[in-house]
Amino acid sequence: MAYSIAGKTALVTGANRGIGEAIVDALVAAGAKKVYAAARNLADLAPLLTRHGSRVSALQLDVTDASQIAAAVAAAPDVQLLVNNAGVAAMMGGPFTDPQWLAAGRKEMDVNYFGTFAVSQAFAPVLGRTGGGAIVNIASVASLTNFPMLLAYSASKAATHSLTQASRMLLAAQGTQVYGVYPGPIDTRMAEEIEMPKTSPADCARAIIAGIQGDTEDIFPDAMSQGMGTAYLAGPKGLEKQIAGMVASAPA
Ligand SMILES: NC(=O)c1ccc[n+]([C@@H]2O[C@H](COP(=O)([O-])OP(=O)(O)OC[C@H]3O[C@@H](n4cnc5c(N)ncnc54)[C@H](OP(=O)(O)O)[C@@H]3O)[C@@H](O)[C@H]2O)c1
Repeated sequence: MAYSIAGKTALVTGANRGIGEAIVDALVAAGAKKVYAAARNLADLAPLLTRHGSRVSALQLDVTDASQIAAAVAAAPDVQLLVNNAGVAAMMGGPFTDPQWLAAGRKEMDVNYFGTFAVSQAFAPVLGRTGGGAIVNIASVASLTNFPMLLAYSASKAATHSLTQASRMLLAAQGTQVYGVYPGPIDTRMAEEIEMPKTSPADCARAIIAGIQGDTEDIFPDAMSQGMGTAYLAGPKGLEKQIAGMVASAPA
C-alpha cells in the first residue's frame, strides 16, 4: 500500500547534516505537515530551522541515550513517520587483525543497530496510536554483503537490515509499514575518505521519498546501490564473490 507523506508528521534522527538534513528538506518538499529534526547538538539544526520555519521542530536526541529517547517520545507524541538515519562509520581500512576494529565495531553497533532498535521500540507505540504509520531505516549496501574496508560497519549495517525485517514482520499487525534503505556512496562527511563517484544527499533523499511513496520495501537510492541490489537479489553469494574479487585484485 503506497504511503503518502502529504500532511504527515515525521521525525528524522541525525538530521543536522548529510543524508538526514536532506531527508528533512525532501519531506517538507513532499508536503509533510511537521518534521521533528532530531540531533545531538541543537545548535547544529539552525540552518534547517531558518529554511523551513515552523514546519520543522528541533529535538535533542542522542540515539544511544535512553533518557533522551524517552524525552523525545514525550515531546513528539504525534509522530507518524520515523526515519532512523543517525549513524557512524568509526573505522575505514586496516588489516583483519587490527585490534582497533573491535572498539570501532562496538561503537558502530551501539549507534547503527542498538540506537535504531531503541528508537524504534520507543516510537512503535506512538506509531500504533497515530494510525500505524511507517518506519524508514537507513541501512547501507554494506548491509547486503561485507565491504572489508568497512569491516565492522558492514556488520552493524547487516544487523540494521535484520532489524528492519523483524520490525516489518512484527509491526505489520499494528499497520506500520517498514522500509529499508540501502545507499551506496553518498557525498557526506561520512564518505569523505571514499574515492569513488558519489551521489548528492539531495538526490539520495529524493529517491528515498519516491521509494516510500511508491511503496518500495527495499529502497536503492543511487546508481551503485541499484546495481548491487540487483546482484544481491539475483544471488547473495554472487555479490560476495564479486566483492572478494575486487579485494583480491586491489593493490597491496
Ligand atoms: N554517506 C554514505 O556513503 C552512506 C552510505 C550508506 C549509508 N549511509 C548511512 O546514512 C546515514 C547518514 O549518514 P551520512 O552519510 O549523512 O553521514 P554524516 O554526515 O556523518 O551524518 C551522520 C549523522 O548521524 C548523527 N549521529 C551520529 N551518532 C549519533 C548518535 N549517537 N545519536 C544521534 N545522532 C548521531 C550525526 O550527528 P553529529 O553531527 O552529532 O555527529 C550526523 O547527523 C547513516 O546511517 C549512514 O550509515 C551513508
